[in-house]
Amino acid sequence: MVRKAIIPAAGYGIRSLPITKVIPKEMFPVGLKPVIHYIVEEAFSSGIEQILIITSKSRDLIMDYFDSSIELEAFLKSKNKEHLIKKLEIPKVEILYKRQAVANGLGDAIRLGKEFVGNEPFAVLLPDDIVIPEPVPALKELIEVHKETKGSVIGLKQIKQDCLKDYGVIQGWPKERFIEIQDIVEKPETNAPSDLAVIGRYIFTPKLFTYLELTNEGVGGELQLTDAIKSLLANESVFGKIISGDRYDIGKLKEYVELVNRLIKTD
Ligand code: G1P
Repeated sequence: MVRKAIIPAAGYGIRSLPITKVIPKEMFPVGLKPVIHYIVEEAFSSGIEQILIITSKSRDLIMDYFDSSIELEAFLKSKNKEHLIKKLEIPKVEILYKRQAVANGLGDAIRLGKEFVGNEPFAVLLPDDIVIPEPVPALKELIEVHKETKGSVIGLKQIKQDCLKDYGVIQGWPKERFIEIQDIVEKPETNAPSDLAVIGRYIFTPKLFTYLELTNEGVGGELQLTDAIKSLLANESVFGKIISGDRYDIGKLKEYVELVNRLIKTD
């Protein structure tokens, strides 16, 4: 059972400046819902019961969004517009928050979830990536592999050679339903070990925290999740799953616009 998930939402969003000076990228609208709504929905429909969102300064918008809106509901009732109340519904999952004091990388943000996770396998969803589920939510596909292997599982997607430098890239042996990962490299400038990039969906055994604590600053002077995964790999099997849905990196303007257009077309 994977019951808990961590969503890191504390970065500066520097790829999307200047708007991220005031609006966290997790709150970018995709249609009439913010990005983070889709992420929480995916976690909920994959069976997650509790979510820890790692936030930072000036992120109150995220907390406000998931709060109940009793005043607004009362207002809608008083105006005979009860039918609009269902638009305020959020996925029925418990959401907790923890603040990251200094933006010190993805690995550092996840490390803050150690007490929340305890001693059970857990999921990580990066809100940079939205996956349109096809036919099942991406996280659920990973959970299926975890059920079979009991190990950590990383979501993967085949991408174009010139984009590999923006992501973690793996090397591995394909099995029937998943890949056994041999190595992982963060943002390779050249000689990427394959064309399989890490998308922001992971299931980890709690052993990951041991390696996060031993990890030093990596690429960009930040504590990199990929470096902790590398150490995990050396000690236990880690698996990869090529997800079947379409993935959009909302930190890339072109993909963000494509996603919005796709959802408008199906509205
Ligand atoms: C992070 C990970 C990277 C992964 C990517 C997916 O990078 O470090 O391995 O491929 O998310 O979106 P970031 O986008 O935070 O630089």
